[in-house]
Amino acid sequence: MTEPAPMTATTGDVRRHRVIVIRGDGIGPELIDATLPVIDAVARKHGGFQLDFVEHEAGAGLYLREGQSLRPETMAAIRQADAMFKAPVGLPDVRRDDGTEAGLLGGLRVGLDTYANVRPVRLMPGVDAPIKADPGSIDYVIVRENTEGLYLSRGKGVGTTEVMTDTMLISRKGTERIARFAFELARTRNGAPEDGRRRVTCVDKANVLSSLAYFRQIFDEVGALYPDIEQEHLYADAAAQELVQRPGHYDVLVMENLLGDILSDLGGATVGGIGLCCSANIGDDHAYFEPIHGSAPGLAGLDRANPISQILAAAMMFDHLGETPAADSIRWAVDEVLGSATVVLGPSGQPNGGTKAAAQAVVDVIGNT
Ligand code: IPM
Ligand code: MN
Repeated sequence: MTEPAPMTATTGDVRRHRVIVIRGDGIGPELIDATLPVIDAVARKHGGFQLDFVEHEAGAGLYLREGQSLRPETMAAIRQADAMFKAPVGLPDVRRDDGTEAGLLGGLRVGLDTYANVRPVRLMPGVDAPIKADPGSIDYVIVRENTEGLYLSRGKGVGTTEVMTDTMLISRKGTERIARFAFELARTRNGAPEDGRRRVTCVDKANVLSSLAYFRQIFDEVGALYPDIEQEHLYADAAAQELVQRPGHYDVLVMENLLGDILSDLGGATVGGIGLCCSANIGDDHAYFEPIHGSAPGLAGLDRANPISQILAAAMMFDHLGETPAADSIRWAVDEVLGSATVVLGPSGQPNGGTKAAAQAVVDVIGNT
């Protein structure tokens, strides 16, 4: 892979991007601390833009002190900003009355209507994946519907002390827009590693659940507008097998919220663990970027967590902000440090020299090339 050339710095206007930063809980703050120098390094290298960061506190720590995990003024600031950059939040012991964690999901994903949760699964060089595959032979994106499905009730399920329910909601509008998003994304990609064909796979349980049969029906309706993209259906249980046995066949997969949650962790495991996996939450008006994993409080403060998920989330943010060379430089540098074994991941996915050293290796590669 050749390194992306630095963009010519504009002498006149500097593009300014306003970014809200949430440092999160557990390992969150150290992931952000490790990633900011990477962001600085690509900003220096490529020039022409500047990120104006404003930090806001949110998450379980805040909930403990204030009884709210997200302040209204933080939401207002995110709505005004060009993007939000977020570390994992949540602590297992900090729960609401119904037992669900005091996280930010409802507030952010639904509140900002970021309906597309985009989760790349890519096997990078040098990674000792648990399945037999070469770098480049696994490269697909899970497009997880992010605002409805079985996550709709989010801690507001209906029941009594003897029974509890959550409802799967699939709407026409919600499914049309996520299907469109998946097809548009496929048009920007190079197709599946196996055969280079652009393909969108609808993952569902249309054989059992009416809600997901409806999801499939609407996927097909939207798909008719994209005759240039190959289209197929796959049951979610079969998908769990396929993503292990034949991952190279997949390009873009679109699915309901909970299915996307589960299968993106499975996909992450096949390419070396979710410590390497980033995501974008994208809506028509707002977007934010975060690792797919949680805040791992047991590792907090130990300088052991893998910062690569957070670093690659920054690359996704640069893509969104239109700073593509900066995004490509980050991905290229991550491939470089892993491929050259400058950063080696242990069996549980933690980098040999620790969090800071792994991020510094990425900074060094960006700075030296
Ligand atoms: C994710 C996470 C969240 C989810 C948790 C932290 C609530 O697992 O982003 O995948 O369930 O969506
Ligand atoms: Mn998850």
